[in-house]
Amino acid sequence: PDERTLVLIKPDAVRRGLVGEILARFERKGLRIDALVSRTIDGDFADQHYAEHVDKAFYPPLKAFMTSGPLVALVLSGDQVIEVVRGMIGSTDGRKAAAGTIRGDLSLSNRENLVHASDSVDSAKQEIALWFPELG
Ligand code: CMP
Repeated sequence: PDERTLVLIKPDAVRRGLVGEILARFERKGLRIDALVSRTIDGDFADQHYAEHVDKAFYPPLKAFMTSGPLVALVLSGDQVIEVVRGMIGSTDGRKAAAGTIRGDLSLSNRENLVHASDSVDSAKQEIALWFPELG
């Protein structure tokens, strides 16, 4: 049974013209795009998406960044897609992420790290419900 995950192509990636490059990696891997939208989120929506981080010291600049311009939100599906996509993205800090991963190849920051992906079955369910309620 295939899983689904929520991926955000963050405002830094949109500004840098990397949306196509990042989508192409997911497509070449064989994952399916079940939904996709470009949108600019406000602070309240950022707080909902990052509910587990709102009290952390790094959150205010993260919130400013995530609301700074359009991002691309998508739902990917495939066999073990949550773990597969986390592996393709690499660790949070682009300076430390392994070469061959999206962050490792394309980012030098631990905030402006190009992509977000759900980290568990539970968070995928919550995040898909938040971003794409119509997918129910
Ligand atoms: P993401 O996978 O979207 O989940 C939380 C985000 O917070 C993370 O990617 C980074 O963009 C950001 N983040 C996590 N840790 C730090 C940190 N120590 N400093 C700055 N930003 C961080």
